[in-house]
Amino acid sequence: MAVGADTKLDARALRADFPILAQEINGKPLAYLDSAVTAQKPRQVLDAMTQFYETSYGNVHRGVYALAERATEAFEGARERIARFVNAPSSRELIFTRNATEGLNLVAYAWGLTNLGPGDLVVVTELEHHSNFVPWQYVAKRTGAGFRMIPLTDAGELDLDGLDEIVADGRVKVVATNLVSNALGTINPVERLSVWAHQHEAIMVVDGAQAAPHLVIDVHALGCDFFAFSAHKMCGPSGVGALWGRRELLEAMEPFNLGGHMIRKVQFEETTWGDLPHKFEAGTSPIAEAVGFGAAVDYITGAGLDLIERHEHELAAYALERLRDVPGIVLYGPPAERRAGIVSFNIEGIHPHDVAQVLDWEGVAIRAGHHCCQPLMHRLGVAATNRASFYLYTVPEDIDRLADGLLRVRKVFG
Ligand SMILES: Cc1ncc(COP(=O)(O)O)c(C=O)c1O
Repeated sequence: MAVGADTKLDARALRADFPILAQEINGKPLAYLDSAVTAQKPRQVLDAMTQFYETSYGNVHRGVYALAERATEAFEGARERIARFVNAPSSRELIFTRNATEGLNLVAYAWGLTNLGPGDLVVVTELEHHSNFVPWQYVAKRTGAGFRMIPLTDAGELDLDGLDEIVADGRVKVVATNLVSNALGTINPVERLSVWAHQHEAIMVVDGAQAAPHLVIDVHALGCDFFAFSAHKMCGPSGVGALWGRRELLEAMEPFNLGGHMIRKVQFEETTWGDLPHKFEAGTSPIAEAVGFGAAVDYITGAGLDLIERHEHELAAYALERLRDVPGIVLYGPPAERRAGIVSFNIEGIHPHDVAQVLDWEGVAIRAGHHCCQPLMHRLGVAATNRASFYLYTVPEDIDRLADGLLRVRKVFG
């Protein structure tokens, strides 16, 4: 959708679609500031799933009766729309997974185990979620490949100055990074890293879990080879995600899970694999969840991804400004214009869990912990941070409630 510079997202109107936001928590209106961990669901997604269960539910690709055909149509229709959402050249390259984590494991196992060996390098970043760090660390160890990290600047952005030193250590075969960091909100230079990866004949794997909900995604423009994301962070249901992969790579890869539905022919001596995407979709799929995923993509596309992105930049700028006034606050990450709607912070002398607990008394929900980013926490020299994260239903008043709640935290802990 083309939008003018002054077109704005109407977050207040969108909130009416989210029944969960209308409630009180601890006697206070809910300020939900934990959308990076999982987003809330609009009525449109809930209704699409209920209607599917009530009228069209059956297993997919198996039956010839009306319900099975209807279910297959709804499931494959969702795949088409989700593939278009990331600008995939073909929906056959879009594999339904359980979540982003499973998509990244799929690539690490099915590509990594056969293509990596001694002398090769897997390059991740210091900013990775464990889902795009641990599978690569494990597969590198199993295959004898080296494992390297692109370091961070003090502002929480990737420091690309050392890339040439990494190349000197071996053959770079995989570059794996997130597009948006869940811990700091940093938007990473994936296009540039894709060019670098391909110069070295490496594959470029993108963890899109925090990007797909908030930015216009174009896998072609990103220049990547794989892109993994989760429905539950995009207003969709939990239990389903997707992996987009370049067809020629997917076709050459071994399967990840084995069993029903992913085969072409099974004989005692040998089994052959089905076509894409079925080769990577063993067993019964998350059927209604995929339908909900399709509805979620329709919903956020209808709201406008470019408007969502702009709304979050504005909220991030407002939050950084408001929180700066809290005594003893330490804010992490880049300036608002280079981050999505995520703000991580600590308050000197107060444990993040205590901060989050007092905020909960005020009806303000934020996350406290290492955010599945222990290497980053090590780099920041802390065990944990607080994190407030925003989405299309977040309004500035939620951030005011956070700032006021933090002043209460200061009072409680002196
Ligand atoms: C950047 C990033 N990558 C991967 C994941 C894993 O997502 P999931 O738990 O849905 O697989 C998350 C979840 O928080 C994330 O923020």
